[in-house]
Amino acid sequence: MQQLQADFRDPRCAEPVDFAEHDAPDQLVHILEERGFAVVRVAEPGPPDAKVTSLAAALRLGNPYIPALYRYAETKDYSAAYSDIRSDTKDRHPGFSTTTGQAWHVDGLLDDIGDIRTTILYCVRAAHRGGDTLLFNSLAAFAELRETDPAAAEALLDPKALSRRSTLPDIDVSNTGPVFAVDEAGNLATRYTDNDTCTWNFSVGPPGGLHRALAFLRAASDNPRYRLAVRLAPGEALIFRNDRLSHGRHPYKDRPNARRHLVRALYANVPTRGQEG
Ligand SMILES: [Fe+2]
Repeated sequence: MQQLQADFRDPRCAEPVDFAEHDAPDQLVHILEERGFAVVRVAEPGPPDAKVTSLAAALRLGNPYIPALYRYAETKDYSAAYSDIRSDTKDRHPGFSTTTGQAWHVDGLLDDIGDIRTTILYCVRAAHRGGDTLLFNSLAAFAELRETDPAAAEALLDPKALSRRSTLPDIDVSNTGPVFAVDEAGNLATRYTDNDTCTWNFSVGPPGGLHRALAFLRAASDNPRYRLAVRLAPGEALIFRNDRLSHGRHPYKDRPNARRHLVRALYANVPTRGQEG
């Protein structure tokens, strides 16, 4: 997996690809394999949802995926294929509608590891100040831990290592699973989250392993090799592998009547091009 060698200090990392270029989809697929994310500028006119739809079509992502948490009667207000992320004091969603920072997480709290493989965040309007999206190459950090402290890495693979519970009002649901997983081909997937949805099961794996693993990942998430802040300009989208990166957000400030506005869509598929799709 190329992403295990990625170095987020490379200044080319956040350079946007121009979606108008004829080979933009190929470039994006290549970059996503290399780093787990890509920034793309979509200059064509049109409503935000249509831009996300053309990106998804070019990358053969299929239709947006509705996370398991939003399939309940109590949460159906959040079940749109294209979610508007902007501050709203009347809304109680802890992530979408506030201007606070967001700690490391993967999208899809109730979904199993690897189920939601791609996230697109399209920027309609940037914040007045702050609001960068943070990316953490948790997969590469895990690969490093596997080399240096295999017992700690083993604890992260335990199917009972991490429970995540909804923090939405009125709905008490959770899902337990591993923090990282390896498939038959040796490919890794991540569910690394470190926020108020998490309950860690320190009894799994070799004694002390999960404590050491968490300390390692928390330090690694501050290492500029693995961590990057991306500030999207209006008309730009961030596409990332939700099964291979963890993400978060800096807090932000809005100007009155000019709220930061992102549109988010999730996909079960991986971006692909060519004949294999
Ligand atoms: Fe998220």
